[in-house]
Amino acid sequence: MPHHPASALSRRTLLRAGGAAIAATALGGTGLAAPDAGALKPGLTGSTPITAAGDLVEVELVAKQRMLRILPEPADPSPLITYADRFPGPVIRMRKGQRLRATLVNGLDEHTSIHWHGIRLPNLEDGVPYLTQPPTKPGERHVYEFTPPDAGSFFFHPHCNTVELLGRGLAGVLIVEEPDAPKFDADIVCLVKDWQLDKSGKFGAFTTDRGASRAGTFGSVSTVNGAIEPVIEVPANGDIRARLYNIDSTRVVDLRVEGADAWIIAVDGNPLPPRPLDGWPMGPAMRIDVLFRAPAKAGQTLRLTNVYSAEPRPLATFRAVGPGLPNKRFKPRALPASAIPEPDLKDAPIIPIAFSATAVAQSFDAAVLPGLPYADALCLSAKTFWAINQQSWPEGGHERLPPPLVTLEKGRSYIFELANLTPHLHPIHIHGYTFKVLSSDARKVVPHHADTVLLEPKERLRVAIKADNPGDWMFHCHIIEHQDTGMMGYIRVA
Ligand code: C2O
Ligand code: CU
Repeated sequence: MPHHPASALSRRTLLRAGGAAIAATALGGTGLAAPDAGALKPGLTGSTPITAAGDLVEVELVAKQRMLRILPEPADPSPLITYADRFPGPVIRMRKGQRLRATLVNGLDEHTSIHWHGIRLPNLEDGVPYLTQPPTKPGERHVYEFTPPDAGSFFFHPHCNTVELLGRGLAGVLIVEEPDAPKFDADIVCLVKDWQLDKSGKFGAFTTDRGASRAGTFGSVSTVNGAIEPVIEVPANGDIRARLYNIDSTRVVDLRVEGADAWIIAVDGNPLPPRPLDGWPMGPAMRIDVLFRAPAKAGQTLRLTNVYSAEPRPLATFRAVGPGLPNKRFKPRALPASAIPEPDLKDAPIIPIAFSATAVAQSFDAAVLPGLPYADALCLSAKTFWAINQQSWPEGGHERLPPPLVTLEKGRSYIFELANLTPHLHPIHIHGYTFKVLSSDARKVVPHHADTVLLEPKERLRVAIKADNPGDWMFHCHIIEHQDTGMMGYIRVA
């Protein structure tokens, strides 16, 4: 297990999931998802920092089943699996420079781990069972400790049996605040997620062969922060920073704040020059930070919609509350730049990474594999429909982890040419790194950084990294059924 040197840091904030200290969850004012969610002030919607001072932020995350309400009565509460006593939960907020110590307590009847999506952290903290840590067994604890190097909007989730666990709600939010960000009048979090629920509140199948081998199996109930079309209160006439997350397992969304002048100020937590919110499709795991002006008068509303489908779909309403902040001119403000190492493109080899269907669907029974040393049925695919560079996860013999897709030399820069050979969209995610997105043969690319990029059908997209962070790093599609049926591999930086 990674060894954590005793912290020399003096002050700390103890944060217990579900405890009073976590009042930062961005739930809207209606359709509250959890029995205790009424205690939350909708107007806060994630604006309360969990710590006023101190260098160490501690949180305990108890992964277990909790009966929580997604559907209104007469449906029953649903058997969610969460890290806190409500969904979404928790929202961990910390300042850049602070250290996070997070203890996972496994209250499930299967092993698990926590992957910190989008964080450029040391490999041992990355939370991938068998690859970067032994799985945390039922009843066990595992401590993660790292100092996020970048500010931004991140999240965390398990990395085995993800189709079920994320499908049942196992994800939390990690926000790292810039010390020198411009002032906003509110800072809210909106997690877009569908649920696979029948009318009575029971979960249905999270995956189907038909879905897994195509665009994925879509949920039946759309929510924001676990609530169906919630009303989220915002200060009248305020400048609102909204951290919009797609944490669905399957759906691609293209969000709008209808009726507002809205600007994208960060992608996957990474600042970019503000650009109008007008066409930024997000696959699963992708995020944008948006700045918009709330309506001037209390009671007036704006709508958050998804325009990716033929018919725009309302997701939530922002309702202005309060006396109305003094009038000031609205102009988009850039966030302070992050310090992602700049790849040296002149010296960068081009590594082709091809995403394809497998020639033949393969299936195997992990349970009969003798002495599988590194993986098990929860972490391997039961069937493979997809491949990266013609290698499915797991590959041919399935006895061990497959070899890395490629081994990179530490300190060198690389360009990945991501080629989508399929007629489907794939949000491609790298662990431990942030891509610099360079160019596409199919569209004009806005220069930006991202940990997950949405590959269009047949597109070739070039992204670059400086390989400064050693270790084995997962590289996979974030449509969870694609990840779980072969479209996953890892790169080695040594
Ligand atoms: Cu959110 Cu391996 O990913
Ligand atoms: Cu995919």
